[in-house]
Amino acid sequence: MSKLTESRVWKDLNEHYFNIKHLQMKEIFHYDEDRFEKFSIKWNNFVYDYSKNRVNWDTIAYFLELSKFQRLRFKISDMFAGKVINVTENRPALHTALRDPNPVENYSGIGFKQNIVDTRIKMEKVVKSIIKGEWKGHRNGQIKNIVNIGIGGSDLGPKFICEALKDYHTELKVYFVSNIDRRDINRVMLELNPEETLFIITSKSFKTQETLQNAFTAKNWMQRSGVSLEDMPKHFIAVSTNINECMNFGIPKENIFEMWDAIGGRYSLWGAVGLPIALQIGWSNFTKLLDGAYQMDMHFKDTSYESNIPVIMAYLDIWYANFYNSPGKAIIPYNNDMASFADYLQQLEMESNGKSVSAKGEKLDYKTKNIIFGGIGTNAQHSFFQLIHQGSHIIPVDFIVFSDYDANDNHNQKLLANVLAQSRALMQGKDKQQVREELISKGLEEKEIETLIPHKVFEGNKPSSTILINDLTPKNLGSLIAMYEHKTFVESVLLGINAFDQWGVELGKEMADDVLEELYNKENTVQFDSSTNSLINLIKK
Ligand code: F6P
Repeated sequence: MSKLTESRVWKDLNEHYFNIKHLQMKEIFHYDEDRFEKFSIKWNNFVYDYSKNRVNWDTIAYFLELSKFQRLRFKISDMFAGKVINVTENRPALHTALRDPNPVENYSGIGFKQNIVDTRIKMEKVVKSIIKGEWKGHRNGQIKNIVNIGIGGSDLGPKFICEALKDYHTELKVYFVSNIDRRDINRVMLELNPEETLFIITSKSFKTQETLQNAFTAKNWMQRSGVSLEDMPKHFIAVSTNINECMNFGIPKENIFEMWDAIGGRYSLWGAVGLPIALQIGWSNFTKLLDGAYQMDMHFKDTSYESNIPVIMAYLDIWYANFYNSPGKAIIPYNNDMASFADYLQQLEMESNGKSVSAKGEKLDYKTKNIIFGGIGTNAQHSFFQLIHQGSHIIPVDFIVFSDYDANDNHNQKLLANVLAQSRALMQGKDKQQVREELISKGLEEKEIETLIPHKVFEGNKPSSTILINDLTPKNLGSLIAMYEHKTFVESVLLGINAFDQWGVELGKEMADDVLEELYNKENTVQFDSSTNSLINLIKK
C-alpha cells in the first residue's frame, strides 16, 4: 500500500465516493437552484462551470485535505521559485518564466533569466524583419513560407495555436512538418518555392531522429534548388539547447535561438519554440498569448484552491480516474479552429502524468492519468458521443465554448445550442417513463415500445464541465493553455508523481535503431521474437 492510499484522506475520499455515487445530479439540480453559483468560477473572460459534475462541497473539502496532505502550496511555490521539482532529471520546471513580463526581477535566482529576455528580443527582431520582408532569401526575394520541422513539444503546441488563431494570421504561410514518413515533408516540397521558404528546425535535443532526417531532406532540397552552402543560413533557423549540433548542421549562431533544460519540451511554446506562432500571428499577438498565460499563472499562484480553476480541474480528473474508474476524458471545443487542441493536450497530459511509479520511485497502487482524447463539436456528436451518452464507462467531458454570440448568425446560434444541450443531456438523461411517453405519442404499439425502451433510455448522470470564454483571442488562448498546464502539474503533485520527465519514450527509440539495422541487413532476420522477425523478413521480401 502506498503512503497515499494508506492516508486518512484517501480513505475518506473512498468512503465519500460510496456515499454519493448513487446521487442523481438531475435531482440535486432540482432541489438546489443555486448549484451553478456554488460550483462555477468566474475569472477574467472565463466562466468555469463544473456544476454538472458528481461532486458536492464535501468532495471539494476532501480534496482540499488531499492538497494539504500532498503539500500542494509548497510545491507550487517550489515550481515558481525554480526549485528542482523534476527530480529524476535534476531540473526545475520554469515554463512560467518564459511568459513572465519581467523574468530578470521575478526569477532572480535563475541562471538563464537574462537569456530569456535576450531571446525574446532576438525573436522580436527576427519575426519583424521576416514579416516586413527585410529578411531576404538567396535570390534576394522575400520569405513567404515558414516550415517548422519538429515533433512532440517542438510541433504540437505551435501547430495547434497557429490553427486556432486563424483570424489573426499575417501574410506568411506557416507549415508544420513532423513525421518521418516522407509524405509529410514531400507535400511541403511539392507545394513551395524554395527561394521563398525559411525552415525552422525546432529540437530541444537536436538529436530526434525524425527531425534530423527531415532537416537533412530540407537542406538537400535547398541545395538541389541552387542554394549554396554559404547562402543556406538565409533559409534556416534553429531552436535548441544543443548549439553545437545546430552549428554542425550549418546554422550560424546568429540564426540559433536557445532553449533551456529547465523547460520541458511540451511546456516550451512560450519561448523560441513559439517562433512559428509569432511569425503566423505577428509579434504583438504573440505577446498577448504570453500575457494570457501570465495572467493564468497569477490566478493559479495566488487564488485559494476552492476558487482556483486549474486546481478544481485536477481534483475532478483524479476523482473520476480513481473512484469512478473512468478510462478516459474527452476534450471537446465547439470551435472548428480548435481541432488540434486534444492532440496538443494528449502530449501535455499523458506525457506528463502517464506514469506508474511515484516521484520517489515507489510502484503505485492507484490510478494516474487516464486517456485524453477529443474532437470538435458538433462533429463529435455524430461519432463517439454515443459511447459517452450510453456506453458502459463514465467519460467526463470538458466542453470549451466561445460566447462571441451573434444573434444574427444561425450557425453560431445552433453551435451554442448544441454544446449547452449536450452537457444538459449527459447530466439529465431520459428515463423509462419519458421514453414510454415519447413512443406512445409517436403511436407505436405496446410490443414495439417494450422492445425499444431499454435501448432509448439515457442513464444520465454523466459528468461534464463547461469552459465558457468570451472570444477566441491570443490572450484567452494563452490563459486556456496555461490552465491545462497547471492542472497537469496539480494532478502530478496530488498523485505524488513527476510531471516533467518522460522516460517512457526512450525504449521504442532504442529498439528502432536495432530494427533499422536489420532492415538494411540482406540476410534473414532471426534475432528478435518471431513476430518482429517475420514482419521484418516479409518487408525485406
Ligand atoms: O520523445 C519524446 C520527446 O522527447 C518529447 O518530450 C519532445 O517534445 C519531443 O520528443 C521532441 O524532442 P526534441 O525537441 O528534443 O526534438
